[in-house]
Amino acid sequence: MPTPAKASILVVDDDRRNLKVLQELLRDTGTDLVLADSGEQALRCVLKSDFAVILLDARMPGVDGFETARLIRERPRSRHTPIIFLTGAYEDLPSMFRGYEVGAVDYIIKPLVPEVLKSKIAVFVELYEKNAVLTREIAERRLAEEQLHESKENLRALAARLQSVVEEERTRIAREIHDELGQALTGLKMDLTWVTGRLPKDQKALVGKMKSIFQLIDSTIQSVRRIATGLRPEVLDEVGLAAAIGWQARDFQKRTGIRCKVALPADSIVLDRERLTATFRIFQELLTNVARHANATKVDIALRLDEDALVLKVQDNGKGIEGMEVNHSKSLGLLGIRERVSLFGGKVEITGSPGKGTHVLVSISTPRKLE
Ligand SMILES: Nc1ncnc2c1ncn2[C@@H]1O[C@H](COP(=O)(O)OP(=O)(O)OP(=O)(O)O)[C@@H](O)[C@H]1O
Ligand SMILES: [Mg+2]
Repeated sequence: MPTPAKASILVVDDDRRNLKVLQELLRDTGTDLVLADSGEQALRCVLKSDFAVILLDARMPGVDGFETARLIRERPRSRHTPIIFLTGAYEDLPSMFRGYEVGAVDYIIKPLVPEVLKSKIAVFVELYEKNAVLTREIAERRLAEEQLHESKENLRALAARLQSVVEEERTRIAREIHDELGQALTGLKMDLTWVTGRLPKDQKALVGKMKSIFQLIDSTIQSVRRIATGLRPEVLDEVGLAAAIGWQARDFQKRTGIRCKVALPADSIVLDRERLTATFRIFQELLTNVARHANATKVDIALRLDEDALVLKVQDNGKGIEGMEVNHSKSLGLLGIRERVSLFGGKVEITGSPGKGTHVLVSISTPRKLE
C-alpha cells in the first residue's frame, strides 16, 4: 500500500465549532486536515485514506468516540493509527481507562492548549513520515532483491545454454577431426606402403626415411585421436562415466607421473547425458588443477552413486589449496565447477591444508527414481 508523502490528520468532533477551532490551530503544521463530524463519517474516512494520527472527540451522539475507536482498530488499514481522545475535564477515570482499552494512545483535555496539542501532533507526524520513508526503502530493497534474483536466474540459464552449445560444438569438431584428418592420414599411410613396396632394396637411405615418415604418421594419428577424444570423450558415450574416469586417470598418470588410485562403482551408472558430461568435465578440470597447482605425487579418486546424488571425490597430497582461492578466486576453473553443479542442484566442498593436500567433494543431485 503506497503511503502518501504528506501526512494527514483526521479530526472527529460532532461540534462544528470545535472542528473550526482545531482547523485554525493546526493550519500551520504542514499536514492535510480531514474533518469528520460523526463516528460514521470518521469510519468512512479511515477506509479511504491513511492518517498520521486521529483526534477523536470522546462524547458524540450515535456512535460515540469509544465505539468509533474500537471500529477503527478493527479495520486492517487503520489498526495501528494512533488515536488521541479529546475529552472534557469532567471525564472520570473509568471512562479514560475505557479509552485506552479501545486503543487510545493519549488524551487531551478541553479546553485545548495549542502548544500541547501541536507538540503531541508533531511527534506522531514525525513518526508517520519516518515510517513512510522506511516503507519506501523496504519496497525498493524488495524490488532490487527480486531483480537481482531474476538476473541470477537469467545468468544461470545463459550459463546452461552456453555449456550445451560448447559441448555440441566440441562434439562436432571432434567428429570432423576424427573423420577428415583420421581418414586422410590412413590414406597417406596406405599410399606410403604402396611406394615403399616399390622402392629398390638398395636405396637404404630412402627406406630409412620412409620408416621415419611412417613413425611420424603413426604419432600424428595418435595425436588426432587424443585431441578428438579430449574434445568429446567418446569413451563416455561408449563405456559410460566410470570407465571414462578410469581411462582419464590412467592417461593422466602416464602423462604426469602422478599416481592415481581410483575407486569406481561396479555397476554402470545410468544417468542423463548432461549430468554425465558435467561430471566428466568437472573431473578433467580437477585433474588439470592437480597437475598445474598442487605439486602432488598422488591422487585419490572415488566415484559413487548415492540414493539422490552422484558423488565425486578427488583428493591430492600436494601443497593444499589456500582458503582465499576456494571462494574468491577470479579464475574460471572452480567457478565453472560450481556453476555446472548449481545447474542440477548439489554441492561443492573444497578444503585444503598444507602437507595434507586438497580435497574436493562434488555431489550432483540426481532425479528421484520412480517408485
Ligand atoms: N589441487 C590444488 N592444489 C593447490 N591449489 C589449487 C588446486 N586447485 C586449485 N588451486 C588453486 O586455486 C586457484 C583457482 O583454481 P581454478 O581452477 O579456479 O583456476 P586456475 O586453474 O588458476 O585457472 P583456470 O581458470 O584455467 O582453471 C588456482 O589458481 C590455484 O591457486
Ligand atoms: Mg583450473
